[in-house]
Amino acid sequence: MKHYLQFSDFTAEEYDYLLSRAALIKKKFKNYEKHHTLTDRTLAMIFEKASTRTRVSFEAGMYQLGGSVVHLTTGDSQLGRSEPIEDSARVISRMTDLVMIRTFGQEKIERFAAHSRVPVINGLTNEFHPCQILADIFTFIEHRGSIAGKVVAWVGDGNNMANTWLQAADLLGFTVHVSTPSGYEVDEKLAFGGKTPRPGCYKVFQDPLEACKGADLVTTDVWTSMGYEAENEIRMKAFADWCVDQEMMQAAKPDAVFMHCLPAHRGEEVTAEVIDGPQSVVWDEAENRMHVQKALMEYLLLGKLAD
Ligand code: CP
Ligand code: NVA
Repeated sequence: MKHYLQFSDFTAEEYDYLLSRAALIKKKFKNYEKHHTLTDRTLAMIFEKASTRTRVSFEAGMYQLGGSVVHLTTGDSQLGRSEPIEDSARVISRMTDLVMIRTFGQEKIERFAAHSRVPVINGLTNEFHPCQILADIFTFIEHRGSIAGKVVAWVGDGNNMANTWLQAADLLGFTVHVSTPSGYEVDEKLAFGGKTPRPGCYKVFQDPLEACKGADLVTTDVWTSMGYEAENEIRMKAFADWCVDQEMMQAAKPDAVFMHCLPAHRGEEVTAEVIDGPQSVVWDEAENRMHVQKALMEYLLLGKLAD
C-alpha cells in the first residue's frame, strides 16, 4: 500500500504515468465521457485548516470517478476534542478506502498514515503541498511541454510550496531559483530529508529580480501561510520587496508563465497586472488540481491502468 505524504514518495517514472493519466482523465472530462473507475469507493477528507480548491477538487473529482466522500473538520468531529490521531486513523480507515488530510505538522499526517489501513494523501501540511505541485507541473507541461531542464523562479516565503518545488526539481530534472527574505529561507534538510540533492537542482538568490532572470516559470505564494497568522505584521514588512511584478516577469523568458497556488493577495506577493495578465495560468492551475488528483486517487487504489 502506498501513501502520498510528500512529493518524493513517488519516482520520476510514476510521475510520467500520473501526468499522462491525468491528461487522459481531463480529456474525458472535457468531452463529458464517464470515467467511473472508483465506483463504490469512499474518500474521507479531513480538514484542520481552511480550503476552497482542495475540498472542491477532491470532492468533485471523487464523485466524477463514481465514488463518494465524507468531509470532516476539527470543529465537527472528535479530532478537535483530542481523540488521538492514531485512534482516528484506525477508525476512519476501517470505513473508507482513501483518506486526504490537510493539517499542521507533517508528523501528524505521518502518524495517521502509520495507523491507517488505507492510502493517505497530503492535502497540505506546514511542510509540504505535493498535490499542488503535481497540478503545477501538469499545467506547465500543458502550456510549454516538458519541464525537464527548465528554470522555475520561486519568489517569497520558504514555505510548504517552496519545499515541494525543491523535491520536484530534484526528481524531475529542472532547477528552482529561490529568492526569499532573510530569515525565511528554505530548509534543505527538511526538503530533502537529509539526503544530498541532485547538484544544481536549486540555486539561492538574494535579489528576487535576479532569481527571475531567464526563468520559464515564475511563481509565488502568500506571505503568511495558514498557521502563521500571528507573524503577519512582521512578515508584511519583511516581504515587501518580494512582490512579483511586471519587471520580474520581463526579466524572465519572453514566454514565461506565472503561477500561484491561490488564494492570492493582489498588491502583496503579486501585482494585479501580473496575476490577471496574459502570462498568468492560475485558473488552469486551479482546475488541474482536480484532474491530477483523480489520477492520483485511482493510482493509489488501483495501480496503473491501461484504459
Ligand atoms: N491551493 C490550495 O490548496 O487552495 P485551498 O487552500 O483553497 O485548498
Ligand atoms: N502556503 C499556503 C498555501 C495555501 C494553499 C498555506 O500553507 O497557507
